[in-house]
Amino acid sequence: MSDSQKTTNVLKSTRRDFLKTTAAGSLGLVAVGSVGIARSAHAAGSDTIKIALIGCGRRGLGSLQDRFKVGDNVKLVALADVAEKPIQAAAKLLRSQDEFKDKLALDDDYFFTGFDGYKHAVESCDQVLVASPPGFHPVHYAYAVEKGKHVFVEKPFSVDAPGYKICMAANQIAEDKKLTVCAGYQRRHQPSYLEWIKRIQDGEIGEVRSTRVYWNGGQVWIRGVRGKTESEMSFQVRDWYFFNWLSGDNIIEQHCHNIDVGNWIHGKGDRLAHPVKCYGMGGRQWRKTPILPYNECGNVFDHHYVEFQFTDGAIMHSQCRQINGCWNSVTEKVEGTKGRGESCWLKPDNGERWDFPKNQNKNAYVEEHIHQADAIRNGKYLHDGWHSATSSMTAVMGRMATYSGKEIAWDEAVEKGSALFPYGKELTFETETPVTPGPDGTYEHAVAIPGIYNPFA
Ligand SMILES: NC(=O)c1ccc[n+]([C@@H]2O[C@H](COP(=O)([O-])OP(=O)(O)OC[C@H]3O[C@@H](n4cnc5c(N)ncnc54)[C@H](O)[C@@H]3O)[C@@H](O)[C@H]2O)c1
Repeated sequence: MSDSQKTTNVLKSTRRDFLKTTAAGSLGLVAVGSVGIARSAHAAGSDTIKIALIGCGRRGLGSLQDRFKVGDNVKLVALADVAEKPIQAAAKLLRSQDEFKDKLALDDDYFFTGFDGYKHAVESCDQVLVASPPGFHPVHYAYAVEKGKHVFVEKPFSVDAPGYKICMAANQIAEDKKLTVCAGYQRRHQPSYLEWIKRIQDGEIGEVRSTRVYWNGGQVWIRGVRGKTESEMSFQVRDWYFFNWLSGDNIIEQHCHNIDVGNWIHGKGDRLAHPVKCYGMGGRQWRKTPILPYNECGNVFDHHYVEFQFTDGAIMHSQCRQINGCWNSVTEKVEGTKGRGESCWLKPDNGERWDFPKNQNKNAYVEEHIHQADAIRNGKYLHDGWHSATSSMTAVMGRMATYSGKEIAWDEAVEKGSALFPYGKELTFETETPVTPGPDGTYEHAVAIPGIYNPFA
């Protein structure tokens, strides 16, 4: 059966029973016999893992350096980016760093630019790191597993429901091919969170009744005005945070971390746990003020509030904001029938408060790569794709609620949620963008208006 046929089939099938994890598998690290370096993608007899990076921006470079810090035998063989400049800057920096010189096998012929560059990078390596803007993740992830490569994919996995379905199909292909999939939801690899969630799931504060998850912070980067001769596509891909077809909006791009932790808590070990419905509100105030360069703030909101309801009636309250000068918090809080807590402490009603010892925590950005390298080399099962696609879709469902002002049910969101990203379209810098500027040069006309916006159109 071809991969595309498998893709179609997996979309029809339900994976819930199969994917329930055991306690031992909560991290997804379960030994599966002799699937290791010998049966993985790299050449038999070699213990060198060839790495390629797709998206050579800030996190891409950071993630690559974190991968190098694992200290195993890897060689960077290819860099791909839609633009030439980030590739050259990344190569220059890496070549100047003595620390990582032995990790480079970089030939300038393996610098791949353009919207198709990722394909060549994937084909050159054993393990791919995907750190392009979120809208591209489903396409880049699916191609990597189709070609049989181990993958590290930055969060979020998708910005819309069709992207979620592509990722779920890719998850199944990775599962079938025994590929490792690691995601940039680094809390899932952080000792403090692993211990905190285990204690909650062991019942230290009774049954979980609600969680409160927050990413309230200030304005993020803006990349500057569109160049006089720059195409609209080039500008939007450069300023990707502010266009929802590329970032998903801040509830997805940033707040997905906390929503993922909420799903993890409420899921009680089910990697596919998700809320069944939600409603919420949101809007854009700061991004309309003259303080900011209005026409560079695209069509995204700057605040969202959502109540997500799980099958057992438990509620996850979610807040995210990107406005300067307000109350900030990036955390997760939990209320149980016998106590409460916050990442990463717990206070049972009838007991002492437990805090994760700060001196025992580790750098989660490196830990995730340590776990994946171990899984690749020692034939362990590591598949972050299931919870990552699910929590990305949870955030998409939240955005559908805040944009529309309507109650949104999971099944309907998945089945009928509209595409923001132009899947299946060959992109160039001249392709018309899904969002275009209005006559005033701004994107205000493309900002969702609750009560009017239809998330299924
Ligand atoms: N896990 C975390 O804590 C964390 C932190 C920051 C960013 N991220 C994620 O990392 C990803 C990248 O974010 P960033 O901050 O590095 O952004 P960035 O803008 O600094 O880098 C993105 C790079 O991707 C390139 N690119 C754009 N379209 C591409 C395409 N089609 N093919 C290949 N390259 C393409 C851009 O030219 C740019 O160099 C995002 O998904 C973001 O959400 C995760």
